[in-house]
Amino acid sequence: MMIAIPGVLSGRSLDHVRTLVSQGEWIDGNTTSGHQSALAKRNSQLPEDSPAAREAGGIILDALGATPLFIAAALPLKVFPPLFNLYGEGDRFDTHVDNAIRLKRGTDFRLRSDLSATLFLNDPATYDGGELVVEDTLGTHQVKLAAGDMILYPASSLHHVTPITRGNRLCAFFWIQSMVRDDGARRTLFDLDSAIQTIAGDRGQADPAIIRLTGVYHNLLRRWAEA
Ligand code: NI
Repeated sequence: MMIAIPGVLSGRSLDHVRTLVSQGEWIDGNTTSGHQSALAKRNSQLPEDSPAAREAGGIILDALGATPLFIAAALPLKVFPPLFNLYGEGDRFDTHVDNAIRLKRGTDFRLRSDLSATLFLNDPATYDGGELVVEDTLGTHQVKLAAGDMILYPASSLHHVTPITRGNRLCAFFWIQSMVRDDGARRTLFDLDSAIQTIAGDRGQADPAIIRLTGVYHNLLRRWAEA
């Protein structure tokens, strides 16, 4: 499932993240890549442990925790501390697949990447190119979102970033290990949850059928989740 999550960052938090990362020291993006993707990638990145990346990443993690659509869609167990990349003119990232297991260097933090996330940080009108293109069983999807919006997509998918022909593209990117590993099961839970919220809006949370459906949601989660 691919889902756009609008307004993860806005106003002052978006400005703050942009200011922090723009003052950071950018390095060649290949320092974080596995062998396969190093062949295909041309961009810049903030060092994982840089103070700017850590502080800006913390703001994003806090914002995610306050975004119900993200929680409902991802059912997150662990979120990798956000990383930041910058694509200037001519930069691109050719077709690749993200590593299944991500380790945080110098720590014992590790996760299985079930979902990949890209959070767009600058105005799409300020650059050309730089679309995230995700291939799934239904075809290819081109994504370029407003500043502060985020796309969530299966980490198992092939994807690439088209070359920048004007301006700069600034994004945060990271991975999520979901409590529900299977994409289809996670989607079913999300659809059920969304439908319950819609009906509850009409009939109220105390409606007996809503209470039973909410029970079904939690019982499916109990069957499928690792927590
Ligand atoms: Ni990738």
